[in-house]
Amino acid sequence: MSASSPRPARPWPTPGLSFGGDYNPEQWPSEVWREDLDLMVEAGVNIVTLGVFSWATVERRPGEFDWAATDEIVGLLHERGIRIDMATPTAAPPPWLHALHPEILPRDRDLIPQFPGARLGWCPSSPVFRDHSLRVTRELAQRYAPHPAVAMWHVSNELGGGNGRCYCEVSAAAFRDWLRRRYASVDVLNHTWGTAFWGHIYSDFDEVNPPRGSEAQNPALVLDFDRFSSDELLGQLLAERDVIREADPDAIVTTNFMVGPAHDVVDYPRWAAEVDVVANDHYTLPTDPLTAQDIAFSGDRMRNLAPEKGPWLLMEHSTSHGTWHPVNRAKAPRELIRNSLGHIARGADGALFFQWRSSPSGAEQYFPGMVPHSGTDSKIWRETVELGQLLGRIGEIAGTTVPRARVALLFDDIAGWALTRGLKPRHGLDYGRIPRAWHRAFWERNIPVDVVGPWADLAGYEVVVVPTLLLVSDADAANIASVVDRGGCVLVTHLSGIVDENDRVRLGGFPGAFRELLGASSEEFFPLRDGETVLLDTGWLATEWTELMREDPAAEVVAHYAAGPLRGRPAVTRNPRNGGSAWYVSASIDRLGIDAVVARLIAENALRPILESPEVEAVRRSGDGRSYLFLLNHSDRDVEVPVGGRELVTGIAGAAVTVPAGEVRIVREGERTGTRES
Ligand code: GLA
Repeated sequence: MSASSPRPARPWPTPGLSFGGDYNPEQWPSEVWREDLDLMVEAGVNIVTLGVFSWATVERRPGEFDWAATDEIVGLLHERGIRIDMATPTAAPPPWLHALHPEILPRDRDLIPQFPGARLGWCPSSPVFRDHSLRVTRELAQRYAPHPAVAMWHVSNELGGGNGRCYCEVSAAAFRDWLRRRYASVDVLNHTWGTAFWGHIYSDFDEVNPPRGSEAQNPALVLDFDRFSSDELLGQLLAERDVIREADPDAIVTTNFMVGPAHDVVDYPRWAAEVDVVANDHYTLPTDPLTAQDIAFSGDRMRNLAPEKGPWLLMEHSTSHGTWHPVNRAKAPRELIRNSLGHIARGADGALFFQWRSSPSGAEQYFPGMVPHSGTDSKIWRETVELGQLLGRIGEIAGTTVPRARVALLFDDIAGWALTRGLKPRHGLDYGRIPRAWHRAFWERNIPVDVVGPWADLAGYEVVVVPTLLLVSDADAANIASVVDRGGCVLVTHLSGIVDENDRVRLGGFPGAFRELLGASSEEFFPLRDGETVLLDTGWLATEWTELMREDPAAEVVAHYAAGPLRGRPAVTRNPRNGGSAWYVSASIDRLGIDAVVARLIAENALRPILESPEVEAVRRSGDGRSYLFLLNHSDRDVEVPVGGRELVTGIAGAAVTVPAGEVRIVREGERTGTRES
């Protein structure tokens, strides 16, 4: 093996855009490997993630490593110029490890251990697992870090997906140590958590337990346990990363996040700082009526997790239906390509899939790969090849970024934990729903939005939307208020600013963190039953949540409740202040209401769409004097867009571009020659 290649200026594993997927050759006889490689070359694959589930293959018995097959496949990939994103196999502990150490299996809140046989069957705090996982990581890293085909390292797989929370005794002890470090004295913990309620006053950290059993727990304890659990998983990421860096200090290290419709496990903004390439796995939900917007929302968030790192990587998505839901919707013709380019439009420098070849067996045997069960005479394969070849042709886009938007939408996993856990006036609140509903109104109008944390530098934003951000610190509340004080607009929805960072309710009226800013407040929550609606005098309907707002607010009243016990009370307010404005929306209002409010925000703040078109999603990427306009036609009719430049899918330059139904066009703006590029 030769010396490692020099670290590129921008830490990225491939030239141009990355294209490929998880490659699990151990599932196949070696005769298939050569066909795989030919097909990869045909499709333009330039990187594969290798070895995610290979632990049981490379270490059949404790300490007995056999790298022959890996050596061979690494060599074959290298010969064909395909780079390797080498995965540590720690997501899949081998059966012998569970037989030897069943105590590493995570335990649920009722202390029932997970059975072996799934994935991520390990407690993130287990020192036994840590030792074994670092042992295999060290062997792997020392062997393959010098190999020129290894372009990136992929720590484990979807950390937290299966072992996000472990309540075992080992976790409990680690949690107590974490609390000792955070609070130093048990009195501080008692005060911060408000343990006088139900007489839970602790006299020693050793008396604290994870929030096992009942849902009726101290929310501050639950929240700290969530933070602790995220930190423990991050600890595994850092430990494996550091072992890889011992073998190669210049290694590009990543791990695949799960920023998607189910946002629940870890605190990704903190994790993003620790990886060289921020990468995501994104699977749309079959129940989602607007999957294109889900892709947009996750991309608007992904590129802002660590914006200073530039483009992010779509590490996994699907070529068609999944298998994890009761009914799994297949992708319509062209949707595979449109989805991939949807992620790339929002700042991904590549699109990879799970997995290269569909497995005939195993738990995910019906999960379609890039080479589906039906083989190459298939829609999936033809679209895969078309996509790979296209990404090869549009590599010039790599390195450009989505310009900063004028609208920010605040999103924070920790606030989401506080919202969704524990006893609330209404149970089953979903943190993703309301942020997506407000994002949709901008997305449909092609007005760019950055999804950022409440601690982000908000200086450049003219409109900041704060949807159901239940938990907010004083510092972050001041950060948000400063937008209005310099003439910008803030819109706060119900269930925002209710608690501080310790999940303690802010007293004196809701939303405590923003009362003064809003010039309005509520005194009592009026949650609605499933299916119940309340009419507002604007014709909008509230569902799920309403509030008894105080009468005669300093703010102007935009909408009143028109029915039910809150009739005549303010529902939506707007407070002009220091040249800016601060809105409060006290109810979960319907689409009509959100659209009407967003239309006013757009008009009042002179926001301009990238393109006015109900059918075509338009997103711009730019940098180094280049600018690319992505046009994604989600409708079933062709649309002509009056934009000048060279269109990179067809190679044709002109003053307008036709985007056929279901297709994507990408215009390199600023060229008007009317010629075809070879
Ligand atoms: C996740 C995992 C993959 C695979 C896919 C499809 O993204 O990382 O290993 O299980 O889901 O279900």
